Amino acid sequence: MLGTPLMTYAADACIDCHTKLSPGQVMDWQVSKHAENDVGCAECHGEAHSTAEDAMKAVLPAEQKCAECHQDQFDQFSHGKHNFGWKSLNAIPATHMAPDELIEGGRGCGGCHNMGIKSEEEKKVLADKGYRYQNNSCDECHTRHAFSKKEALNPRACQQCHMGYDHPQWEMWSSSKHGMRWFAKQNGDLPETAAAPTCQNCHLPDGSHKNETAWGFLGVRLPLPDNEQAAADRVTILKALGVLDPETGNPTPILDAVKAVRMAKLDQESWQKERDKMLKTCSQCHSPKYVKEQLDMGDSIMSKADRLMADAIETVAALYKDGLIKKPANYPANYPFLLTFMHTNGERWDKDLDKLSYIDQVLVQMYMKHRMRAYQAFFHVNPDYAYWYGWNEMTKDLGEIKELARTMRATHK
Ligand code: HEC
Ligand code: HEC
Ligand code: HEC
Ligand code: HEC
Ligand code: HEC
Ligand code: HEC
Ligand code: HEC
Ligand code: HEC
Repeated sequence: MLGTPLMTYAADACIDCHTKLSPGQVMDWQVSKHAENDVGCAECHGEAHSTAEDAMKAVLPAEQKCAECHQDQFDQFSHGKHNFGWKSLNAIPATHMAPDELIEGGRGCGGCHNMGIKSEEEKKVLADKGYRYQNNSCDECHTRHAFSKKEALNPRACQQCHMGYDHPQWEMWSSSKHGMRWFAKQNGDLPETAAAPTCQNCHLPDGSHKNETAWGFLGVRLPLPDNEQAAADRVTILKALGVLDPETGNPTPILDAVKAVRMAKLDQESWQKERDKMLKTCSQCHSPKYVKEQLDMGDSIMSKADRLMADAIETVAALYKDGLIKKPANYPANYPFLLTFMHTNGERWDKDLDKLSYIDQVLVQMYMKHRMRAYQAFFHVNPDYAYWYGWNEMTKDLGEIKELARTMRATHK
């Protein structure tokens, strides 16, 4: 199939013109394994376009194109969590309240959440809105057009998305002992054989493209913990996520959405499976007892963080109940709703901006930014994130929420 005269001709024509037009792309391709193996431009982009005027006829290849030659990686990727990036984004009410440039345009939420194979239907919706690019997840870690394996093995390949506000795994790992060792190795200050785990070692072990963790992002799961207070706190958080009805405690339709994209583990078994895999990974370099204690501590700080979180949610919920905050029209219940993120008036960004409730925003920040850090930092062995950026900030948020609630009650007519 490769290297037929037609292909060679087409590849040359593409390269002749694109060397003048976009030399950086051609140079990248030239150093790739693809160039070495005669996988030319036309192999991925087709041959329908050949002039400046018909560029829209060039195919922008989705993951299925890569699968033609890399079926194993495609299959592994399809079963991992990355494949839910776009779906989970669209399952969140906040997404549909934000300007399109940030979602479909791929320069906000959509810039990281374009990870995941899109259905033809999803691609059509994007195309109809005039958004044509970013329909390939495989170029996220080994970027086009070098498509390099070595690049994807560098933890920096994860940094562009796993950083910042609510998931600073890069910052946590790179300033942890694990990260320091890796950088020391890079500098030649430690031998090549020195142990220094990277994101890929722990999350894509043995070259696998399937990724998933026990707790995941939201940091909630079923069954409820045995401890009565911890169970009550988890229920409060599940209500504020909209998955349990605040009145009856029964599951809502949002639970089905969460289930569909595996946003939370709903039984012990699926949680334990991922935890056991991780314990095995850690045990390559530490004693099993040591790492079990370390991860147990992560679970236990999460439960303590949940005590603060539930207290905050209940404080704000009481303001809803007593009519000090009016239920936004599209909230599922008369209760705080964390999945609207900062859009706490429950409307699109351009509607009723003056109705934003500040105390709700502090609550979202406490959950999304500070609770995340408090527990994620334990798993990524980072003392500063665990305390100052995590726990410390949660206590500050709680103080602010209590004070705001007092003021609101005092000034309410
Ligand atoms: C005669 C010059 C010429 C030739 C030959 C040519 N291209 Fe292009 N190509 C262009 C120009 C010019 C653009 C950019 C148009 C623009 O920016 O509006 C473009 C754009 C593209 C795009 C981006 C399309 C998009 O939607 O943004 C791809 C992909 C592409 N070319 C691939 C190829 C491949 C593959 C071949 C060979 C089969 C090829 N080109 C041959 C000039 C050429
Ligand atoms: C292994 C497959 C593959 C090969 C080979 C390949 N491309 Fe691409 N190219 C892609 C992917 C994937 C995208 C991104 C598609 C998207 O955004 O949905 C892309 C995007 C592009 C774009 C549009 C985005 C931009 O940055 O301008 C151009 C132009 C382009 N390629 C040109 C080329 C040229 C020229 C060659 C040959 C030198 C080439 N490609 C070879 C996979 C490939
Ligand atoms: C027509 C077949 C073909 C297609 C389509 C194709 N590849 Fe490849 N790819 C190859 C071959 C051949 C190699 C070299 C294999 C080897 O070295 O074992 C390769 C190697 C790679 C490597 C390893 C590079 C390295 O540094 O070792 C990556 C990563 C890769 N391809 C990604 C992609 C992605 C992403 C796409 C889709 C955008 C894609 N490929 C589409 C044939 C293809
Ligand atoms: C910088 C990249 C980036 C941006 C921007 C971003 N996210 Fe994320 N998002 C991620 C990453 C990475 C994860 C997984 C984090 C983790 O598990 O700790 C994630 C997780 C999520 C999850 C949970 C998915 C699950 O299955 O657990 C949702 C929902 C979500 N993001 C929605 C959004 C929304 C809505 C926006 C915009 C307001 C947004 N994200 C902006 C990178 C990003
Ligand atoms: C283009 C952005 C992007 C890049 C690059 C990226 N990720 Fe992700 N990652 C995400 C998003 C978005 C999610 C959440 C997916 C979802 O909605 O379930 C995620 C989820 C994850 C999860 C699963 C968390 C859970 O819910 O269990 C792990 C583990 C992970 N990524 C590891 C990595 C590693 C390791 C790398 C680098 C080799 C990497 N990611 C590169 C965007 C990215
Ligand atoms: C030494 C192993 C190790 C390294 C290195 C590591 N992680 Fe993790 N990661 C973990 C553990 C353990 C968890 C929690 C697993 C659980 O839920 O049981 C985790 C959880 C995650 C999650 C889910 C949310 C969270 O933070 O709890 C994401 C996403 C993630 N890691 C991404 C990364 C990225 C990106 C890097 C590199 C910058 C990285 N990890 C480096 C061990 C590691
Ligand atoms: C989250 C980051 C990430 C994404 C997304 C990703 N890869 Fe990779 N890929 C890697 C890493 C890391 C390696 C190196 C694995 C190893 O050898 O340890 C790799 C290696 C490869 C290789 C070389 C395999 C070999 O052993 O020579 C191919 C081919 C490949 N990926 C194709 C794909 C395809 C196809 C997709 C999309 C379905 C994809 N990758 C998406 C991180 C990623
Ligand atoms: C590839 C080897 C490797 C893997 C895998 C690994 N570690 Fe480490 N870890 C090290 C090295 C090396 C150090 C620094 C030396 C030391 O403190 O033991 C370290 C340090 C630590 C520390 C800090 C110790 C201190 O005194 O400050 C903790 C905690 C830790 N690791 C937990 C884990 C956990 C939990 C996992 C699995 C999620 C894990 N490690 C996976 C090699 C590894």
